[in-house]
Amino acid sequence: MLPAEPKIFYGREKELTDILKLFKQESPRIAILGAGGMGKTSLSKAVLHHSEITTKYHANRFFIACDGLTTKVELVNIVGAHLGLKSGKDLTRGVLRHLSNAPSTLLVLDNLETLWDPAESRKEIEEFLSLLTDITSLVLMVGVFLL
Ligand SMILES: Nc1ncnc2c1ncn2[C@@H]1O[C@H](COP(=O)(O)OP(=O)(O)O)[C@@H](O)[C@H]1O
Ligand SMILES: [Mg+2]
Repeated sequence: MLPAEPKIFYGREKELTDILKLFKQESPRIAILGAGGMGKTSLSKAVLHHSEITTKYHANRFFIACDGLTTKVELVNIVGAHLGLKSGKDLTRGVLRHLSNAPSTLLVLDNLETLWDPAESRKEIEEFLSLLTDITSLVLMVGVFLL
C-alpha cells in the first residue's frame, strides 16, 4: 500500500515541477538529497500522488522505506513482497525478471542512506541499483539523507 499524499505541502512547487520534468526523459533516475526534516519523504509522496504520475503508472507505483533494513537481500525481498512475489531466500532474480516484464513502474527507495552508508552493504546495494537501472521501463527515485 502506498503512503498517503502529504496533507500540507507548501513551498516545494519548484522541486515538484523539476522532478515531474525529469519524467519526460526515457528512464528517469532521480535522487532527492538533503538533511533530515528537509521534506525529502514528503516530496517523494507528492510525486507519487501527482495526477500526471498516477495516470501514467497507476498501480505500478511503489514506495519502500529502507530504514530498518541492513542488507541487500532484505531490500530485494521487501521489493519482491511489494511486487506480489512469493517470498523466498533471495528474490533478486525474481524481482529483476518481474520488473523487466512489467509495464512502466515507479519505485521509490526512501532513506536509502540506511543501506548506502555502511561500508558492509554499499557494494551490494550499488550492484543491485545498477541492475535496476538496466531496466529501461523502471523509474527509480531514491531519497537519501545527506548533510
Ligand atoms: N512541503 C512541505 N510543506 C509542509 N510541511 C512539510 C513539507 N515537507 C515536509 N513537511 C513536514 O516536515 C516534516 C519533515 O518532512 P519529511 O518529508 O519527513 O522530511 P525528510 O524526509 O527530509 O526527513 C514532516 O512533518 C512533514 O510533514
Ligand atoms: Mg524522510
